[in-house]
Parts: sequence; structure tokens; C-alpha cells
Amino acid sequence: MTTVEKKEVQTKKKWEPQIGAFCCNWCSYAGADLAGTSRIQYPPNARIIRVNCTGRISPEFILASLEMGADGVLVSGCHPGDCHYSSGNLKLRARLTIMKMAIEQAGINPERIRLQWASASEAQIFADGVTTIVEQVRALGPLRSEWK
Ligand code: FES
Repeated sequence: MTTVEKKEVQTKKKWEPQIGAFCCNWCSYAGADLAGTSRIQYPPNARIIRVNCTGRISPEFILASLEMGADGVLVSGCHPGDCHYSSGNLKLRARLTIMKMAIEQAGINPERIRLQWASASEAQIFADGVTTIVEQVRALGPLRSEWK
């Protein structure tokens, strides 16, 4: 194995997916908190960003997260019908569908973005969602490799 190959192997070993996790204050953020206090194990790759409602999340937030080094983004909010601001989560879902099509056009795999619903009592669902996006993004590799 050449020196360059050894360095590539080392770099690959060191790389860990970085995930920006936007969580609604009223449900998923509390679910994440409960996961922590319940000592539920999940990958430490997600950086949680608390928002008042997922309806507050604009495409700029997600793009900024990717630009700042995230390899993937998790958006987690109240279940449909449970949004504290009536339909913020449904508006976000519609926005995200369009956004995924747009980023695919830009050459970014839309599987780097995941939407999930998790209430304040669904700590395991929150943890499973983080695990899923981390593994999905790990399989895709670093974002920088496809975003040129
Ligand atoms: Fe939680 Fe709107 S208040 S998604």
C-alpha cells in the first residue's frame, strides 16, 4: 500500500457524518431530552438546533446547515394534527418535498435530508431517527464528495 493510499484509508476511518438536527421545541426537542435522561443510546453525530415549530424552517436554514459542514439534515417535529401552531409541520413537509427536488437538481442526494415526526414521549423514535439518518449519510459518504 502506497503512502497516498494509507492516507486515504486513514481519512476514511476518521470521517464521521455530521448531522444538523432541527427539532421542534414542543415535541422532538423534548423527545431528544427524554432520550438523554432515559439513557437511550444513539450516535453522537447530530447537532440539535431548537426551533419553535418545524414550520419556521426555511430552505435557507437547511442549505446553511449543509454549507457549514453538515453532511445531512434531520428535521423532527410534531405529528400531523399535533402542531402547536396548527399546520406548521404540514407546511414544512410540503416545502421539504419541493426542496428535495431542488437539491437533487443541484447534484445533492435528497436522502441526506430526513423528516420524521416524534412527540415528547417518543424518545426511542427520536433516537431511531438519528440513527437512521446517520447510517444513511454514512453510506452516501461526505457531502463534499458530491457537492462541487
Ligand atoms: Fe411542533 Fe409545529 S409546534 S411542528
